[in-house]
Amino acid sequence: MRYLLICAMDSEADGFRAMLSDRVDEELSGMLFSSGDLKGIPVTVVKCGVGKVNAALCAQTAILRFAPSAVINVGVAGGVGKGVVTGHVVIADDTIQYDFDLTAIGEEDGLVSACDSTLALALYSAARTVLPEDRVSLGRIATGDRFVGDSLTASRIRDHYNALACEMEGGAVAQVCARSGVPCGVLRAISDNANEHSEVDFPTFLASAVADTEKILFSYFSSLKVD
Ligand code: ADE
Repeated sequence: MRYLLICAMDSEADGFRAMLSDRVDEELSGMLFSSGDLKGIPVTVVKCGVGKVNAALCAQTAILRFAPSAVINVGVAGGVGKGVVTGHVVIADDTIQYDFDLTAIGEEDGLVSACDSTLALALYSAARTVLPEDRVSLGRIATGDRFVGDSLTASRIRDHYNALACEMEGGAVAQVCARSGVPCGVLRAISDNANEHSEVDFPTFLASAVADTEKILFSYFSSLKVD
């Protein structure tokens, strides 16, 4: 059972790469895939770059090359849900691409892709070993090709799309995984509140948010039985 961890940025991926033992690197589609063992579990880590196209390209390349049993998109996000602020972690039960819009021809607004419910619950349990209940949420994560830095857009993503957090890759990874029937999870720690303070908050809280995702996945992999 191989896990694929997809991160958008080096700052999100470096800690996971460092956890791998017997690491082997391989470049594909212009991305560095690092494979090794994490707590005895085969894991491949990759930085896909920011945005939905990078994320989709990465997920599809990795599915064809590594045939992962599960894919986890992990990193930081802007908090948009009530009380979902820096220090919080969100695990997606589903994702919505809020910039996918066929409403002009009568379709629903946005594109929803489900996450694997077993994996989502397991990630939730792992998060609860690291953080208290009031800092961990399970719910919808919104994805779009935009860094959200205004409260008007943030409240629209919360109220219209019913999302807890916004980021730029999760929905694309979940859509690609669904097409190939690969279980997908999205784990995001809140680095900013997707508002006028994000420009300052994002660099300020990035490292501590990433550290929370590292602790949570370390706990998750530690809980898995090695065959
Ligand atoms: N990732 C972290 N913060 C974000 C934000 N405010 N908008 C989109 N992606 C993000």
